[in-house]
Amino acid sequence: MSVKEKFASRRTYKVIGDISSPVNNQIAPEVIDGMLEACANAPFHYACDRLHRETLVSSVPWRAYKLNASSCNGLMSFLNDEGDKTKVPNMLAAADYLIQVTWLPDEGTILNRNAGKDEPAFVGTLRNMEHVAAASAFIQSLLIAGEEQGYMTYWSSGGALKSEQVFDYLEIPHSEILMGSVFFFSRDEQHPEIKPGSMKDARGLVEDWSRWC
Ligand SMILES: Cc1cc2nc3c(=O)[nH]c(=O)nc-3n(C[C@H](O)[C@H](O)[C@H](O)COP(=O)(O)O)c2cc1C
Repeated sequence: MSVKEKFASRRTYKVIGDISSPVNNQIAPEVIDGMLEACANAPFHYACDRLHRETLVSSVPWRAYKLNASSCNGLMSFLNDEGDKTKVPNMLAAADYLIQVTWLPDEGTILNRNAGKDEPAFVGTLRNMEHVAAASAFIQSLLIAGEEQGYMTYWSSGGALKSEQVFDYLEIPHSEILMGSVFFFSRDEQHPEIKPGSMKDARGLVEDWSRWC
């Protein structure tokens, strides 16, 4: 498949699994790391703030927290114990793996990590905007890499996966903001339910969102 065809065939698949029988497919850590290494070729403009370089030391303005199927199962149980009644535990039950991708705001610019949809969560400096943009480019690379590996993928805003409780459970620093929970689901499993992205047919034609200058 050409790169163009991969972009065209990528779609969002929200796979709702059965929490009483979670999948347990094994994927070699080297396979995931090899994919992440390729995706880290995503462009980035500014080095992340020094405060983010203490444990994971890279200058890139994103971080990736990797969960294989058994870690997804552990997180699913944690959320169940917390009384989570959303579909997130079901998606964790269905996932072969999950990458929690955060972006790294500059020091002192987080306003409220738990802000609602239309509230400011961070100071909108140009640098922060470009950190977000770079982390997004990284995630799009993940989705295309997943497509190439034959997975159904889903970029989620996170729901409970961006909560303080989950950050603490996964030991993700509170100085980072979730950019996306990226799910990878096997096409070989018999999944009870699969939902498409709600905006999948809303793009329009090229001439609806571009013009020559
Ligand atoms: C930043 C971002 C966050 C998203 N978060 C969610 C989400 O929380 N829930 C959801 O159903 N889809 C989410 N999506 C996926 C979109 O719903 C999906 O891309 C859109 O419906 C278009 O469908 P397609 O990806 O199949 O073309 C998100 C996409 C992006 C880029």
